[in-house]
Amino acid sequence: MRISVIGCGYLGAVHAASMAKLGHDVVGIDVDERKITDLQAGRAPFFEPGLPELLTEVQETGRLSFSTDMAAAEGAQVHFVCVGTPQRKGEYAADLTYVDAAFTELIPYLHEGDIAVGKSTVPVGTAARLAEAVAAGAPGAVLAWNPEFLREGHAVKDTLTPDRFVYGVPEGAAGEAATSALDEVYATPLSDDTPRLVVDYATAELVKTAANSFLATKISFINAMAEICAATGADVTALADAIGMDDRIGRKFLNAGVGFGGGCLPKDIRAFMARAGELGADQALTFLREVDDINMRRRSRVVELTRELVGGSLIGKRVTVLGAAFKPNSDDVRDSPALSVAAQLQLQGATVTVTDPEALDNAKLRFPELSYEPDLKKALYNAHALVLLTEWDQYKGMDPVETGSLVDEQNILDGRNVLDPASWRAAGWNYRGIGRP
Ligand code: UDX
Repeated sequence: MRISVIGCGYLGAVHAASMAKLGHDVVGIDVDERKITDLQAGRAPFFEPGLPELLTEVQETGRLSFSTDMAAAEGAQVHFVCVGTPQRKGEYAADLTYVDAAFTELIPYLHEGDIAVGKSTVPVGTAARLAEAVAAGAPGAVLAWNPEFLREGHAVKDTLTPDRFVYGVPEGAAGEAATSALDEVYATPLSDDTPRLVVDYATAELVKTAANSFLATKISFINAMAEICAATGADVTALADAIGMDDRIGRKFLNAGVGFGGGCLPKDIRAFMARAGELGADQALTFLREVDDINMRRRSRVVELTRELVGGSLIGKRVTVLGAAFKPNSDDVRDSPALSVAAQLQLQGATVTVTDPEALDNAKLRFPELSYEPDLKKALYNAHALVLLTEWDQYKGMDPVETGSLVDEQNILDGRNVLDPASWRAAGWNYRGIGRP
């Protein structure tokens, strides 16, 4: 099939390359010239494991091209819209400027029988509104909503072997046409028995927001338990292991620590609350306010614990923050707990050095006032305290004895509960975890 992918960020670039891998002829379109130049040269414009190899592989087949010109969408049968929906400045609601602009520009290139597919995370009701615009501007074209569940750091695998497909389609013949077009696009994973659910637009939009709200709730639940563990001397890691063995609960997303960040979970739960308010259903989601509060409280708690660790005042203390990305295997620093903690530590008088294997360029753009050191050893020299906030393998694998020989004072706050307290304490460290004795 001929496919266009509009928006080549974390979602669109991976989607475009993956669709070409499935055997389709794909053009990726983005307004950002730098991104398109990179992609045309076979370079991934951001860090995503497996993407550079995938780009090289599919570009050799000649099935993948990129352009900054929306006219390149002409002639494709299926058009995926993968642009961002960030949080509006100073508000909870999602900013739909990019989605609206993408559809306004795409509609003139849609023809009868074409399928426009929204993949962006949008407030419920957006697809119905856009369907009217498609019907008015491109009679005979059909809109489908096909949410994407990929995780950064696992985006290639999640796209090529998803847990499920969700198609939001209109009723009747138009819906059947959209369903069979999407089935044809995804024929390979579907033939591997990947479940596929065909629903209405509103349900499709809500599947994504509900899934992200559930994941955020799971993380804040275990972080609330960490607060109780801290007050009682219990161990939240063992607690998570034990409750996670009940397969109705499951162990995944029960890692207590500095909390969730990134370009999705925080802004998605806020946009969901804002949309519920518009719908007169705000009471249904007041618990998400609490989920958000528990999450933000984690960051202040980590700052407090660091202050305690260095003897009560951060003034004049050299603190090394391990990690800048919002999670490992990503260079994404959007709403990164690590950087937010680093900035608070500095505000309270610490001399902060942030290190990260991939995310420092992005971090510098967002927090130019912080100091950065890409070399882990150099970042450790003479520190009074280490604060581990992004669980990269290289930090999980640090040797407590060797690390102890580099620092000035052996204080470590394990903000992701990934180190073995016994071996760090045995090497002379003052070790603190989150909700662990
Ligand atoms: C998320 C959803 O998982 C994905 O399905 C959706 O498409 C986009 O949003 P992503 O933002 O890439 O994906 O990251 P995810 O792996 O979900 O992690 C989100 C945040 O939660 C990270 O900051 C991570 O460190 C934190 N987290 C995750 C925890 O604090 N504890 C956990 O147990 C799991």
